[in-house]
Amino acid sequence: MKQAVALHLFLVALVCFSVLLVRAEDEFKYFTWVVTYGTIAPLGVSQQGILINGQFPGPQLDSITNDNMVINVFNYLDEPFLITWHGIYQKKDSWQDGVLGTNCPIPPNSNFTYQFQTKDQIGSYMYYPSTLLHKAAGGFGGLTVYDRSVITFPYDLPAGDFTLIIGDWYKTSHKELQQTLDSGKTLPFPDAILINGQTNNTFTGDQGKTYMFRVSNVGLSTSFNFRIQGHKLTLVECEGSHTMQEIYDSLDVHVGQSVAVLVTLDQPSQDYFIVASSRFTKPIITTTAVLHYSNCMTPPTEPLPAGPTYQIHWSMKQARTIRWNLTANAARPNPQGSYHYGTIPIQRTLILANSEAQLNGKLQYAVNSVSYVNPDTPLKLADYFNILGVYDLNTIQDSPTNGPVYSGTSVIGITLHDFVEIVFQNNENTIQSWHLDGYNFWVVGYGSKQWTPTMRKRYNLVDAVARHTVQVYPNSWSAILVSSDNKGMWSLRSQIWARQYLGQQLYLRVWNNVTSLYTEYDIPSNAILCGKAAGLQI
Ligand SMILES: *[C@@H]1O[C@H](CO)[C@@H](O)[C@H](O)[C@H]1NC(C)=O
Ligand SMILES: *[C@@H]1O[C@H](CO)[C@@H](O)[C@H](O)[C@H]1NC(C)=O
Ligand SMILES: *[C@@H]1O[C@H](CO)[C@@H](O)[C@H](O)[C@H]1NC(C)=O
Ligand SMILES: *[C@@H]1O[C@H](CO)[C@@H](O)[C@H](O)[C@H]1NC(C)=O
Repeated sequence: MKQAVALHLFLVALVCFSVLLVRAEDEFKYFTWVVTYGTIAPLGVSQQGILINGQFPGPQLDSITNDNMVINVFNYLDEPFLITWHGIYQKKDSWQDGVLGTNCPIPPNSNFTYQFQTKDQIGSYMYYPSTLLHKAAGGFGGLTVYDRSVITFPYDLPAGDFTLIIGDWYKTSHKELQQTLDSGKTLPFPDAILINGQTNNTFTGDQGKTYMFRVSNVGLSTSFNFRIQGHKLTLVECEGSHTMQEIYDSLDVHVGQSVAVLVTLDQPSQDYFIVASSRFTKPIITTTAVLHYSNCMTPPTEPLPAGPTYQIHWSMKQARTIRWNLTANAARPNPQGSYHYGTIPIQRTLILANSEAQLNGKLQYAVNSVSYVNPDTPLKLADYFNILGVYDLNTIQDSPTNGPVYSGTSVIGITLHDFVEIVFQNNENTIQSWHLDGYNFWVVGYGSKQWTPTMRKRYNLVDAVARHTVQVYPNSWSAILVSSDNKGMWSLRSQIWARQYLGQQLYLRVWNNVTSLYTEYDIPSNAILCGKAAGLQI
């Protein structure tokens, strides 16, 4: 018996050792990030911003495939804080996801060191605070995963690489915005759209050369259309997937999404306007930056290039043209083990309907009638310490109930490796944007009105793009397929931040009952413990 235990321990040690070995081959990159308040004035009036190492937006975070990123975050705000690495899929490691279902927030005047590996997901991403309304004040930035030199990709190396973190913006402080929501009101209309925290950026390139623009929507609620006066955009990457290189005059980017386009400076030598204008809003808000030809002194001239404003069908049609390049060997040769995703039988279907409701006289948002409430104890810690009563897998149904909205901590149990279809049904007249942590999923269909099983005939089962955030048009549905091979507790949330804050979110608990470091890493030794886990031993 003792021998068996010893052998078992030896095997466990071996597994740990080999896991460490795999991780140790790759480079480690160390960062110290100090998060503070500071005065910023992106719209010309001073307001309180959230800075990282004194910067707004935060520093650009660059990595190469397989890098181990070690980021020690010191919180000097007066509120608990977390950063999430949006789109980095934290393989086997939801412990590093930086959301309240997996991590205790970093208390004021303390720190937490994230450690995660950026796997084979070459592409354009971002990070931002996941707590409260902190995202409305800053703390966000660009995150790029570059390829190792041995990997080829389906376009020539551009002469330069620009990251544009674009989002709607308020002059109002994040605390005031939060109070508005807490008091049961909706957020006001945003004051502006910022590009990299400003309204006056210039991006400089040489005439005749080709540049990459990595464009992300970090905003709270507003989709935008992106375009460059006189220039074509060649879409090459979308959230870590190489796309068919279609050419566009302009592209819609919804909240939480990222795209990379190539732009050749093939026009007469002068400057040109870069434009981001709001979609599906009245009024329309527009911001500009300048594409500067290095050999010229001529400023850009109006009029700004026109873009779509409220055309929903235009946007849906464009979304369908974003397809995966099946012959490109990178960025994602085989996302999570299933290249021929269209031939895999669906084992589970979730139909998730968003709704708005008044609960105890206050505005709330819900999914299948449940308005999510964050428990004091992160779900992941409840699992680790077997703490009962934090959540219940029966809180939410797999499809809409049409019953009255109630508060709850919604967690859907998914068996590890199940192939799951998720239909987002939007019966409201506003645009939705849904993001899933831990995964890239195939966006197989967009349609108007009600989804029914016959819609499956219209799915793109050949070359749908794999991404982490999908928009759902007003009174429409979007369908995705997920190969649930990443064990962990994963946030599925509205990127429309007020909706997320007021309950339009849930977790997918991708699980099997075998404890193994091959399927999931152990709790990190520096995990912060809180709620019912406070004071326990890891
Ligand atoms: C852009 O505007 C900000 C204030 O909003 C100002 O501090 C900065 O100097 C301006 N930059 C340029 C290049 O004009
Ligand atoms: C906080 O930072 C110190 C180094 O300054 C580090 O040793 C410690 O592990 C960090 N704490 C956590 C919880 O990561
Ligand atoms: C797809 O990728 C292949 C291989 O890298 C490349 O040659 C081809 O041009 C790409 N096709 C499109 C339409 O982007
Ligand atoms: C794990 O799940 C399998 C299949 O559901 C079941 O047969 C087995 O008894 C379970 N093992 C444990 C340790 O719970």
